[in-house]
Amino acid sequence: MKNKSLISIHDYSKNDYLRIMDLAEEFEKNPRSYGNLLSGKVIATLFFEPSTRTRLSFESAIQRLGGSVIGFTDSSSSSVSKGETLKDTIKTVSQYSDLIVMRHPIEGSARWASEVSDVPIVNAGDGANQHPTQCLLDLYTIRQTQGKLEDLTITMVGDLKYGRTVHSLIQAMSYFSPSFHFVSPEELKMPNEYKMFLKEKNIPFKESNELGEVLKTSDIAYVTRVQKERFSDPMEYEKVKNAFVLKNEMLEGTKSNLKILHPLPRVNEISEDVDENEKAYYFRQALNGVYARMAIISSILGLK
Ligand code: CP
Repeated sequence: MKNKSLISIHDYSKNDYLRIMDLAEEFEKNPRSYGNLLSGKVIATLFFEPSTRTRLSFESAIQRLGGSVIGFTDSSSSSVSKGETLKDTIKTVSQYSDLIVMRHPIEGSARWASEVSDVPIVNAGDGANQHPTQCLLDLYTIRQTQGKLEDLTITMVGDLKYGRTVHSLIQAMSYFSPSFHFVSPEELKMPNEYKMFLKEKNIPFKESNELGEVLKTSDIAYVTRVQKERFSDPMEYEKVKNAFVLKNEMLEGTKSNLKILHPLPRVNEISEDVDENEKAYYFRQALNGVYARMAIISSILGLK
C-alpha cells in the first residue's frame, strides 16, 4: 500500500481490505491519540465535482492526524477555468503536496492522474466508474454491523447502472461468499459486466421488483440515489426517480440484524421516518468514512 495510488478497489487485495479495516477500528477506538501522525505532511483535495461526505471526511481525517490540507472544491476557482489540462494541474499540485485526493466526473481520470503525478493519487470518485474509499468504509460498516463479512445477503436498491459505489462493493464483497438481490428500475439495472463477474465467481444474485419481499431475507440493504447528473434527458430522470422508495413499514418482519446503508446523499429513496428505526445505519456509516480515510491515508504514506 505504501506510496501506491488507490484508484480502483482492485488495487487492493483481500488482505489489504482487512488491514485497512483493522486500522480504522484502531482509529475509531482512539480517535484523538494520533494527532501527530501526519505532522508536516500536506494533502491536496481536488474536487472537480460536488461532494459533502467524501471531501469533508477526508479533511477531517487529515486534520485529526495532524496534517494540513490544500485544494479546491470547485475547479472554476482554479486555472482549469483558463484551459489548463488535468495533466498540468496534477503535475503542479504534486509539487506542493505529499498525496492528492481527487474527484472528477470523467471515468478513468484518476488513473490518468496517477500516471502523471509525482505523489500517490486517491480516487474520490471518477464518474460512474469507481469510488474505492467509499467501498472500504462500506466494508468496514458491514463488518461492524454484522460482526463478519462472510455469507451475507445484500440487497442493492436504486441506481445500479451508474452507481459507482455498488460496482466497487460487489467486487470487494466477492471475497466473502455473498448473495445479492438487485432492485432497480429497468433503465438502471446492474450492467452485464458486473453480472458476468458474479457468474464467473459462482456468486448467486437475483433481480427483483419486490423490495418488501427481498428485504425479509437480507442482512444488509444498500440503497442508492438515482443520480440526476448522469441523465442527459431530464424526462428520463423524472420517470425513474421515485421507482423504489424504502418506507418504515417495509422493515416489519425483516431480520433483526438487518441494517440499512446508503452512501448518501439521499434525495427521496429512503423515507425520513426510517431514520428513527434502529435498522437505519447510514449516518453512522458516514462517520465511519473518517476512520476508514484515516487508515487509508496513513497506510499510503507509510506512517502506520
Ligand atoms: N458518499 C459520497 O460520496 O458522498 P458525497 O458525494 O457527499 O461525497
